[in-house]
Amino acid sequence: MENSNRPRRMRKDEFSRRLMREHHLRTDDLIYPVFVMEGHQKEEAIPSMPGIKRQSADLIIDTAKECFKLGIPAIALFPVIDVNLKTEDAKEAYNPKGLIPRVVALLKQHVPQLGVITDVALDPYTSHGQDGLIDASGYVLNDETVEVLIKQALSHAKAGADIVAPSDMMDGRIGYLRDELDNNGFENTGIMAYTAKYARAFYGPFRDALNSAPKKGDKKTYQMDFRNTREALLEAELDYNEGADFLMVKPALHYMDVIKSLKDSFNIPIAAYHVSGECAMLSAACKNGWLDFNKAMPETLFSLRRAGADIILTYFAKDYAKMASKL
Ligand code: PBG
Repeated sequence: MENSNRPRRMRKDEFSRRLMREHHLRTDDLIYPVFVMEGHQKEEAIPSMPGIKRQSADLIIDTAKECFKLGIPAIALFPVIDVNLKTEDAKEAYNPKGLIPRVVALLKQHVPQLGVITDVALDPYTSHGQDGLIDASGYVLNDETVEVLIKQALSHAKAGADIVAPSDMMDGRIGYLRDELDNNGFENTGIMAYTAKYARAFYGPFRDALNSAPKKGDKKTYQMDFRNTREALLEAELDYNEGADFLMVKPALHYMDVIKSLKDSFNIPIAAYHVSGECAMLSAACKNGWLDFNKAMPETLFSLRRAGADIILTYFAKDYAKMASKL
């Protein structure tokens, strides 16, 4: 048989498979999201996210040390806020003595080399659960919300946050945040913009984890419609021009076309948030014995890398770090 096309030739041996390998994913490329709550030596499991816990600040320090040892460059903090502190005006969001500023300061004291990223959005702090301030009809007000986000981001930067990550999807917030940080001497505090954040079902387990689901309505008037891709390019252009250091796509797995188009169009790092619901799907199948976690999880993360993600936020960051050298 005459056959000069034999791509299998280079798949025959491990050495040539290694030489042929096009994509690599290092622990260096991962960010680990964590849920922090008040208390001492307290942790609570999140049923829809097997293996993930809410932890009090002292235990978060242990988790942070573990991440640092594993080589994970940064963690992203999400607060569980006491219901009594949730108000219509979200004023706890910029309390300099609030949970997030305290945890950031502790992290910087105990694990100074680990990058600390904070979430800038009002949903954990509002009594209604929306990411911003609302008017009488329940509509989320843009510019009034940005005023609060600016104060929130500044309180994080003052506590020592390395990067602030606005996940609220208000118009113009990147530019206003950049100005406010610069005017207060925080020109080296980075901004990771949740650029293309879609209003979808895959945030369910996260909202359970933080008890932050909107009490009524949804987030469609600010998060993007899952039917759109070009709109993501417009959002990216705005965030890029307003001074974002990173552009993020969220969710990740279900939006790989969006990751790819941002990667092709912008020369700053593209981050993908492998969100709670996407992790829950995989965890559930693995728990049932339908998928093998040690194979399906890295394959999932690599799919995001092939799509163009430079950085992946994933609840599986520690698991990946432990197996990365053996892959
Ligand atoms: C809040 C925020 C959400 C997530 C990150 N920041 C939830 C939402 O927008 O409703 C979701 C993360 C995840 O699902 O893992 N602004």
